[in-house]
Amino acid sequence: MRFQTIGVFDSGVGGLTVLARLLNEFNGVKFLYLGDNGNVPYGSRPKEEIRDLARKNLRTLAERGAGAAVVACNTASLCLQGDEEIMGMRIIKLIPFIPSGYEKKRGVFFGTPATVAEVREKRLFSDFEKLEFCPLPSLAAEVERQLGGGGICKNLDHFLPPPEKVDFLYLGCTHYIYLKEVFSARFGAEKCFDGTDKIIENCSNYIEKSGFDLWKNNSVEFIGKWAEENEKIFRINFSQQCRI
Ligand code: DGL
Repeated sequence: MRFQTIGVFDSGVGGLTVLARLLNEFNGVKFLYLGDNGNVPYGSRPKEEIRDLARKNLRTLAERGAGAAVVACNTASLCLQGDEEIMGMRIIKLIPFIPSGYEKKRGVFFGTPATVAEVREKRLFSDFEKLEFCPLPSLAAEVERQLGGGGICKNLDHFLPPPEKVDFLYLGCTHYIYLKEVFSARFGAEKCFDGTDKIIENCSNYIEKSGFDLWKNNSVEFIGKWAEENEKIFRINFSQQCRI
């Protein structure tokens, strides 16, 4: 029997937000979480370097028996253009996605510098006439650092636009999801998008079609050099809402 094992990878703790959603949406999956916390932030590095770091980490997940790996990182996903599999392991990417109906509305896309550059180059939102791009060079690293210290600073006034000037926001980095309640309080939860719903949909399609058997319950194993740190941050932030 081949049992369902899905790797989840991010540059650091951002992907834990995606892991929490995956645990709530699916049952019978063994998840492996690998954070490359020693190299965070990816978003200020050149594209080739991001791609090489991502591939190296994905190979580790493949060696540990994952049938698929969720790249819970917008930055790495966008730099893995053309990579659909690695050592026979399927790669499920987090590609920024804004639902249709917002093409003519005023939006702001927040992301790492590399994500914003890739989104622009790939013209992902060419239909969106009033979408502004806002690269944030230090927010992911700041979130990572603050969570490691136990808390998170929730004052984002220095870069948030006045709510009356925008119709929607896109959080194009999984690290920003820790701040979602701050964005939601200011703009309204229904106006704040991120790629998590889309990745759940892609995962669900993969699980349906993969032919792997399901375990009795979900489980999570944190792997790699930063396993202990990631597990600790996961337990502090998500253990109440996840069934593990
Ligand atoms: N969490 C990652 C993302 O979704 C990026 C953070 C970083 O720059 O390493 O883009």
